Amino acid sequence: MDSFETTEGPAGELVIRTIAMPADTNPSGDIFGGWIMSQMDLGSGILASKTARSRVVTVAVDGMSFLQPVRVGDTIACYARVESIGRSSMKIPVEVWAQRYRGQERCLVTRAVFTYVAVDESGSPIPVRRAS
Ligand SMILES: CC(C)(COP(=O)(O)OP(=O)(O)OC[C@H]1O[C@@H](n2cnc3c(N)ncnc32)[C@H](O)[C@@H]1OP(=O)(O)O)[C@@H](O)C(=O)NCCC(=O)NCCS
Repeated sequence: MDSFETTEGPAGELVIRTIAMPADTNPSGDIFGGWIMSQMDLGSGILASKTARSRVVTVAVDGMSFLQPVRVGDTIACYARVESIGRSSMKIPVEVWAQRYRGQERCLVTRAVFTYVAVDESGSPIPVRRAS
């Protein structure tokens, strides 16, 4: 099944919400893609850590797509859901929706699938402790 099915709204739970600020722009004045990626990583990392109830590390990011530009003043919201759990890994599709400055409508601007691995204090993989 495709990680991203066409929906009318965000898929998953709200994991982070913030405003794109002038400090987040690239030299052209557009919001820097790396800043958006970092918000996605922070938000999905919260969900991964909550799911595994342990320390987690990002091991892969697949299918990063920047669908629409983000501008200064936009409110961006990251939505994430746990799609699958392996032994130590978790696959988490993330969507970023933007609400334009002073606007009401929101649109899907970026998406990707993050994979996390549950690790112990020394950084070695450990099984995800599934909720009973
Ligand atoms: C994540 C890490 C601990 C995995 O170590 P490893 O020796 O590859 O461990 P394993 O081979 O046992 O793999 C562990 C799990 O990761 C998965 N995995 C490893 N590489 C992967 C990749 N490129 N894409 C997707 N999954 C991957 C494996 O399939 C396995 O999943 P499972 O346990 O659910 O079956 C190690 O690669 C690491 O420390 N990477 C750096 C992480 C990091 O610093 N992230 C921040 C980057 S800024």
